[in-house]
Amino acid sequence: MQTGLIHLHNFLRWVILILLVISILKAYSGWQGRKVFAPGDKKIWLFTMISAHTTLLLGLYQVVLGRYGIFSTTLPEGTSVMKDKFFRFFWVEHPAGMILAIVLITLGYGMSKKSVSDEVKYKKAFYYFLIALIVILATIPWPFREIVGRPIFPGM
Ligand code: HEM
Repeated sequence: MQTGLIHLHNFLRWVILILLVISILKAYSGWQGRKVFAPGDKKIWLFTMISAHTTLLLGLYQVVLGRYGIFSTTLPEGTSVMKDKFFRFFWVEHPAGMILAIVLITLGYGMSKKSVSDEVKYKKAFYYFLIALIVILATIPWPFREIVGRPIFPGM
């Protein structure tokens, strides 16, 4: 089950990235094209938020009870979390960055329900989603990253 949950966490990264890019493009074209806010855009933003929240739950499980979880691992002797690059990444940097990104995605989706002009909805959502994308790209354990690098697709 543990392996399956990591694979799902890994796979959902691609779902989030694809949906987030579509959300950004839709917000940008709505903003620049001065479009009337479309229910279809709200739906895509909602799916982006749901996939992010699902990944958050899986991530919380990993960081607490996963194979390198806080309650299932002991740190190597003589080191501390902030001194160990591996654990600093998976216990601090990765969760903090991703939680920030998920908050931004939630705020972006929230713009669809705000009683502001459609231009403001699209513009603010665009910036929330764009910053979220940058943070996610910066805190994913890409395979080329030293020590913390992980497979690009589940199980590879
Ligand atoms: C947008 C949100 C997130 C994305 C895109 C993401 C992406 C990833 C990816 C691609 C991996 C590597 C999986 C593998 O080894 O195959 C990973 C591992 C991990 N993630 Fe996330 N993550 C997200 C959110 C979170 C959050 C919020 C937490 C914790 C609160 C978290 C905790 C972890 C942990 C502990 C691992 C290491 C699991 C292990 O190898 O045992 N992640 N994440």
